[in-house]
Amino acid sequence: MEERIKELQEKLNRYNHEYHVLDNPSVPDSEYDKLLHELIELEAQHPEHKSNTSPTVRVGGEVQSKFEKTAHDTPMLSLSNAFGSADLRSFDRRVREMVGEADYMCELKIDGLAVSLKYENGRFVQGTTRGDGTVGEDITVNLRTIRAIPLTIDSPLSFEVRGEAYMPKASFERLNAEREKNDEGLFQNPRNAAAGSLRQLDPKLASQRYLSIFLYSVNDLRELDASAQSEALDKLDQEGFKTNQERRLVGSIDEVIEYIEYWADRRKALDYDIDGIVIKVNDIRKQDTMGFTAKSPRWAIAYKFPAEEVVTDLLDIELTVGRTGVITPTAILSPVKVAGTTVSRASLHNHEMIEEKDIRINDRVVIRKAGDIIPEVLHPILEERKGQAVYEAPITCPVCNHETVKLEDEVAIRCINPSCPAQLVEGMIYFVSREAMNIDGLGEKVIRQLYDAGLIKDVSDIYGLTRDDLLPLERMGEKKVRNLLAAIEASKHNPLSRLLVGLGIRFIGSKASGQIAQEFGSMEAVMKQPEARFIEIPEIGEKIARSIVTYTSHPDFKRLVEKLSDFGVNMTEGASKPDSKTFGGMTFVLTGKLARLTRDEAKQMIENAGGNVTGSVSSNTDVVVAGEAAGSKLEKAQSLDVSVWSEDEFIEKLGQ
Ligand code: IVH
Repeated sequence: MEERIKELQEKLNRYNHEYHVLDNPSVPDSEYDKLLHELIELEAQHPEHKSNTSPTVRVGGEVQSKFEKTAHDTPMLSLSNAFGSADLRSFDRRVREMVGEADYMCELKIDGLAVSLKYENGRFVQGTTRGDGTVGEDITVNLRTIRAIPLTIDSPLSFEVRGEAYMPKASFERLNAEREKNDEGLFQNPRNAAAGSLRQLDPKLASQRYLSIFLYSVNDLRELDASAQSEALDKLDQEGFKTNQERRLVGSIDEVIEYIEYWADRRKALDYDIDGIVIKVNDIRKQDTMGFTAKSPRWAIAYKFPAEEVVTDLLDIELTVGRTGVITPTAILSPVKVAGTTVSRASLHNHEMIEEKDIRINDRVVIRKAGDIIPEVLHPILEERKGQAVYEAPITCPVCNHETVKLEDEVAIRCINPSCPAQLVEGMIYFVSREAMNIDGLGEKVIRQLYDAGLIKDVSDIYGLTRDDLLPLERMGEKKVRNLLAAIEASKHNPLSRLLVGLGIRFIGSKASGQIAQEFGSMEAVMKQPEARFIEIPEIGEKIARSIVTYTSHPDFKRLVEKLSDFGVNMTEGASKPDSKTFGGMTFVLTGKLARLTRDEAKQMIENAGGNVTGSVSSNTDVVVAGEAAGSKLEKAQSLDVSVWSEDEFIEKLGQ
């Protein structure tokens, strides 16, 4: 019996490879199905012979409650982009400057989802999404259902291969036709459908969506004994992986451009979407010499096909008021499909552009969408205009009705009412954001919720919030309230530079605020300086200096600063001492190797700030401070949704 099971497993894996990778089946589908059913039955009777590499896992596995987060061994980077031959030639120049003449591997840029597959001793053990490049999600159960992914390979290799999972156009059409029949929502494009399928918690559903994959890289090419990308791909083929066969190895950038031109039209005939061509220096030693930037390899570039342009009707122009009072126009469009998604809104940039291009409501307009970028209106089609009125820029604010102004040398139209509700809310959203006070758990949604409930009118009110204020609100539980109050409390110790950014003084971003805070040390000192003193700081010009003096000398600003100070918000750069309330009652876990502190120092600091340190992560843990090579504790924290701070973040929250 055991033998028959083994035989069936091997046979089916082979047929599977012939069909889904080689596109060359040796038996009819009916034969495959018959053997598969026999195997399913035998495995049900003898579960001890079932394994994670049996072809029966293709039809689904255990239903998941969620996907675990997992850190990539090496980050999954992205590629820098080229939009025309000029960009390609300057890439080629850089390559030749660094490594001399080079051959290029040209590959199709598959428009799907990047995934990473781990093999141990030739067995597929784990598959993850790209996530943010550092941490992805473990979607192994769903990836096993992709028939083109080998569950075992011939060589006993332990390595990681990466590639693009995608949904073929034909399966996409079939899936949407089916969904339409069942009155279910339709997927916008094959990529969204593939993403949705791989995020299904029930692998059985993922299995029914026919997905495929092209593998295009190996974590360490030497693992395959390859000295070039071309060799690595050939070896992946030999091991039974599916790679894209349209690749071409060329000897010059001119040939790269020829390859791109070849695919410009022909790509429509492929059974999968591509959104560009990837060009890689072929020789691995040359790749090593060129190395990486923080985000992408220097030895590769992605050529993006030009953005698609389409025509539609401009139904209306919607106005929104931002933090600084700028009124931004957005085009409301008759929905139209562009580059794979349905677009019903597009940017009009500013009123000056509307005027220059004479864009009017009810015009036919040309819009364009480049990749993931927000669609924009290019111009109206004047020949099709039916005499509609010229669009007039708003003379009053759409939110508070205060009159608007257009400042000299500015394209924007602004509402200058300092108590305009739209500006107040946007200003508070900015105050808590990452660039400014960085208050975890307090984002746009919660700020709006608090404002609508009448709990906050300006940013200082955030520091007066209590448990009793927050608990009755929708979507607020005990734990969330506790975390939120702790994060608010911790933000009091931010350095002055963050507070200065958060207060939304025009032209003061993190760079200028850092310099100003360094120079003067305290809010009190900043508020006393004349314009001339600011101009003495390198990189601070008249415009910034004038803005800061105008803002800080305003009575409203002074009142706000006083209120913040009364709540205990730090008004100095760096020197705020944590007190026993900073981490009052919070439970910390330290994990990984810290670079700037010893474990004991960190522990002491937490205890001085009123917190306590425990050894293991549980749902009672408030924060995990993760150093380098943090392992299972970090994973546990992520799975329990416990806040994770880096060492730098931790030090910053302590105000040191
Ligand atoms: S190589 C260091 N080759 O395009 C990154 N990427 O921004 C190495 N992609 O997320 C990527 N087809 O998922 C490479 N033949 C191909 C590709 C490809 C599609 C995706 C990849 C990545 C994105 C690049």
